[in-house]
Amino acid sequence: MGSSSLLQKKPHAVCIPAPAQGHISPMLKLAKLLHTKGFHITFVNTEFNHKRLLKSRGPDSLKGLPDFQFKTIPDGLPPSDVDATQDIPSLFESTTTYCLAPFKDLLAKLNDTNSSQVPLVSCIVSDGAMSFTLAAAEELGIPEVFLWTANANDLKNGYLDTVLDWIPGLEGIRLKDLPSFLRTTNPDDFMVKFVLQETERARRASAIIINTFQELDHDVLHALSSYLPPLYTIGPLHLLENQVNNKSLEELRSNLWKEEPECLEWLDSKEQNSVVYLNFGSITVMRPEQLSEFAWGLANSKQNFLWVLRPDLVLGDSAILPTQFLEETKERGVFASWCPQEEVLSHPSVGGFLTHSGWNSTIESISYGVPMICWPFFSDQLTNCWYCCTKWGIGMEIDNAVKRDEVESLVRELMVGENGKKMKDKSMELKKLAEIDVTNSYLNLESLIYQVLLNPG
Ligand code: UDX
Repeated sequence: MGSSSLLQKKPHAVCIPAPAQGHISPMLKLAKLLHTKGFHITFVNTEFNHKRLLKSRGPDSLKGLPDFQFKTIPDGLPPSDVDATQDIPSLFESTTTYCLAPFKDLLAKLNDTNSSQVPLVSCIVSDGAMSFTLAAAEELGIPEVFLWTANANDLKNGYLDTVLDWIPGLEGIRLKDLPSFLRTTNPDDFMVKFVLQETERARRASAIIINTFQELDHDVLHALSSYLPPLYTIGPLHLLENQVNNKSLEELRSNLWKEEPECLEWLDSKEQNSVVYLNFGSITVMRPEQLSEFAWGLANSKQNFLWVLRPDLVLGDSAILPTQFLEETKERGVFASWCPQEEVLSHPSVGGFLTHSGWNSTIESISYGVPMICWPFFSDQLTNCWYCCTKWGIGMEIDNAVKRDEVESLVRELMVGENGKKMKDKSMELKKLAEIDVTNSYLNLESLIYQVLLNPG
């Protein structure tokens, strides 16, 4: 049999992440796993992100393989060459309004037996925030599963229109810990409508994948299972990916900013658990005075630090740190604009993580046993922070206003205090659970494939 006819026989999954870093990364990991299980993969980025990925990784980085191809669709926003995070409400308003037509065109091209060399599309794996794709799957009569890239608790948004004072699995939560989009008094706010629309549409998916593990979230998962399609916990995705070790796809990475791996060498020179790592993900922005408070708090804590300052992290101008701070900390601090985060978190020198509590960062930190200081910015990050600090005992929250004295005392507590020690112990317990549960997650991946993705009826 010729190689092209072999190719035609494979199941073909079209994987479409929401167009933001915290969504592209877990979707790429899932796509690699499906490829390992014999799927032909078409991975769909927006044109804007495709260009950024090429810029950060080089022109050959998205060539893929004959059975793992990258395609693009426009996001509907005006073209831009700016190398920065797009405005999230405008982006989702645009994808939800404009992307269905180009997505359907792409599927039609892939399925055109006269010109296409690839197998017929047999399933769609879509980000839960790209629910417009459901209409395409329903038209083709193929299964569509959602990848939910936030914590399972975020899917509880569907409850909020009916139950505000008691949400199963989130007992004791304060209003301020709920996802920020839901705490507006404006009923016409786009993000409120969008989030409720996406969680409502989740009911129409054939199944939902959540990047978590059963032991971590079982209360919430149990509550959700009563009103959603079958849920598959397939996570932590990065641990599964590491375990499967798909050599042919090793070079495929998803960073929109260029990684600076030199910081790993610096970490090599430091003692075990002696470095606090600061990173605020891909969307968080802060004011210059908040940056300065973080800086002086760090300096005064006298702890070693690795601080990632994304080029678009600080509002207004680029990050300018006080000269005196740089002088005082030059022996024990290092900076990067983007780093290989998983390698950093798994490095033995890293003893704590000051984070914005994005779900990917949270689950990565959990699976490497690193306790956290949480400074949530928006969306599900507030609820992730609540979980870390209140339910799991692996985090301490820092006030949104950011005061240097609080930064100093929390960083010290995290790295050398009694509370820090307790949090480290709890983090190590969760790390062990995550490692044990990876086997279940892998079995869940297989069940998803056989029960849903290969089973159109
Ligand atoms: C946001 C939300 O916070 C998150 O909860 C939601 O599910 C997706 O969108 P983001 O701000 O990007 O995400 O944070 P996070 O979810 O933590 O994802 C960031 C990803 O980028 C992580 O996988 C992290 O490892 C990676 N990263 C970040 C790097 O590889 N290097 C860096 O320097 C910073």
